[in-house]
Amino acid sequence: MCARSYVTERNSMKRIIHFKMNLDAVLYSTRYVPLESAQSFILKILPQMGWGKSEGDDVILDVGCGPGGTTRHLILSLFSSSSKIFAVDSIPDMIALARKHNSCSQIEYRVANIEDWSVLERWKNQITKVVSILCFHWLKDQQKAFRNVYHLLRKEGEAAFFFALRSTFHASVLDMQNSSRWSHLFNGVENYVPESQFKGYADSYYKKMLEEMGFEVLYCQSVEKIDVFSSEKEYREFFCSICVLRKYVPTEQLEEFENDFIEAMLQKNGRDTNGNPTLKAIFMEIVGRKKD
Ligand SMILES: C[S@@+](CC[C@H](N)C(=O)[O-])C[C@H]1O[C@@H](n2cnc3c(N)ncnc32)[C@H](O)[C@@H]1O
Repeated sequence: MCARSYVTERNSMKRIIHFKMNLDAVLYSTRYVPLESAQSFILKILPQMGWGKSEGDDVILDVGCGPGGTTRHLILSLFSSSSKIFAVDSIPDMIALARKHNSCSQIEYRVANIEDWSVLERWKNQITKVVSILCFHWLKDQQKAFRNVYHLLRKEGEAAFFFALRSTFHASVLDMQNSSRWSHLFNGVENYVPESQFKGYADSYYKKMLEEMGFEVLYCQSVEKIDVFSSEKEYREFFCSICVLRKYVPTEQLEEFENDFIEAMLQKNGRDTNGNPTLKAIFMEIVGRKKD
């Protein structure tokens, strides 16, 4: 499970703080396909890399599948009808929704954490393609997860990753966590803002990391994108569903908190010419092949 814990010394008393990733699966699943920029990676970049052309049977692993909309409506279309997709997510509610709304004979949904090898070991050297969309920015140990992916792949198997490097969403989460109005609710709370938000990582950082593990990097680009949402309601539901701070806010203050959070988002992002709310982010797009 995606839970973390650590022990702190405070006034000589040991205090255990638990972190459990608490994305809102129901709210997230109201939008069944991901951001336009992620769709473009799956439907334009991956076919350019030769994905979708193979007649053979692939064994695919979708890492961080969420409620399964992307797996079923986008990823599945890249592969032949005799291929098999294992789609995993660390949050059991996500997998329950995926099984309920996006079940399909070719897809098997399972609860698994990509940072935990003990659960993944059963697929060691079995997978021909790994794909992970909008998941790796949630990880605390990306290096470990990339290494796990490497060990899951067969020789010559390929892995494609799309995740945020820096985003106005993460900047807004930090604003809320540090705001004088709300910060008292978030003492010791893990905000899941990725290290890349502060550390200025660029393409070369990930290329080097993957090459040192034994990947041949076939494609590696960081891209600045603006995603447009079709309505304020969709914008609010999407970003509230992934705002991990939300679950620490008392119910009677939740609406106010969400208003402040969405206001912070809108201030950083603005709207398009039609008045629709947007998201600005820099995404990392990488495809690698296991050399041996
Ligand atoms: C923003 S959602 C993306 C879902 C889906 N790929 C899509 O395109 O809509 C990110 C998903 O990654 C999952 N996730 C986060 N950390 C994970 C981990 N360590 N292992 C597996 N899944 C993880 C979350 O539970 C969440 O469902």
